[in-house]
Amino acid sequence: MALSCDSPLLLWKQMSRTVMMYEELFTIVGYVYAGKILLSLTITIVRELRVIFRSRFWPIDLVSRYGKWAVVTGSTDGIGKAYAQELARRGLNIFLISRNPEKLKKVADEIELEFGVETKILDVDFSLSRDIYPRIASHLEGIEVGILVNNVGFLNETAMPFSRMCEDDLWKLIKINIAAATMMSKIILPAMIKEKKGAVVNISSVAGMHPLPMIAVYSATKAYLYYFSEALRRECRSSKITIQTLTPGYVNTNLISTSSYLRRGGLSIPRAGKYVRHAIATLGVVDTTCGYWIHELQLWFASLFPRYIISEVCMYLQAFLYKDTKPE
Ligand SMILES: NC(=O)c1ccc[n+]([C@@H]2O[C@H](COP(=O)([O-])OP(=O)(O)OC[C@H]3O[C@@H](n4cnc5c(N)ncnc54)[C@H](OP(=O)(O)O)[C@@H]3O)[C@@H](O)[C@H]2O)c1
Repeated sequence: MALSCDSPLLLWKQMSRTVMMYEELFTIVGYVYAGKILLSLTITIVRELRVIFRSRFWPIDLVSRYGKWAVVTGSTDGIGKAYAQELARRGLNIFLISRNPEKLKKVADEIELEFGVETKILDVDFSLSRDIYPRIASHLEGIEVGILVNNVGFLNETAMPFSRMCEDDLWKLIKINIAAATMMSKIILPAMIKEKKGAVVNISSVAGMHPLPMIAVYSATKAYLYYFSEALRRECRSSKITIQTLTPGYVNTNLISTSSYLRRGGLSIPRAGKYVRHAIATLGVVDTTCGYWIHELQLWFASLFPRYIISEVCMYLQAFLYKDTKPE
């Protein structure tokens, strides 16, 4: 007996064929997605291994590659101090710029004693007006700067909604996190370009890779540094200047010490010395990096999710890290 068009058996067969077709399509999409994830993980791991091998077996001679002097902003504590020490260990003379004259002298004396290099100090408060920059420029005159580490940074004591932030802190964020790196580069980069030699390390943050509520302005200032740095690299390509963007995750320093959870540290929240030993090994090898392998894996993991999910999760993470913080 012939089957009519609307016979249940025929309909069933057509439906199964459609289901199989969609099944195949979803399988292909699944494979492509899994392949993409695997590829990005492999690239991340290979990049990290390259840094480890390069620094262990073919370390870059920073003095001959970039020059004899390094300028480090915010160099009396945390990541900046650790950078000054590590660069001195690699034979560079260090020009320390920070706000506290006593701390500056102490750090400079320690560096000279331990590493036998020359140091210079300059006390500058980067939260002040633009008048500070001519003074910095005049102190740097005649010094051939090989490496500039734009490290100085500010984060208000606790995470909070933008509307509750005081105006002073907003200006500090803009002047210390944005203006300092921009103006220091303006002072130092032209000579590097003329010499076709030098490196600028801009310390952004993983907070600049995603818009982060509750630390919205900090996050935005770090995104500025990220974009500034990436664009500058293209501009400076023919001058052979290294422009490195560092996007660290949490590092155990004063900056995050108001959170009792972060203050505890751990494998993913290294001390500044440990972080910088890893980060400095990437200079001249990788242009944009977290500087620390665990942070790189954390960033890779975050890249698997849409931006709005990361922002949402981070908002509640801030509330957990800084106990008295609540979204509006
Ligand atoms: N720690 C983290 O988890 C983390 C993560 C990602 C990115 N970062 C970035 O890394 C950089 C360094 O942070 P950190 O954790 O090392 O901070 P930190 O421990 O607070 O050290 C900051 C340094 O900058 C100096 N400084 C602060 N305000 C200044 C001002 N107005 N004028 C001049 N110097 C000033 C401080 O001087 P004093 O010695 O007088 O205090 C100190 O030497 C920042 O750009 C930060 O955004 C940090």
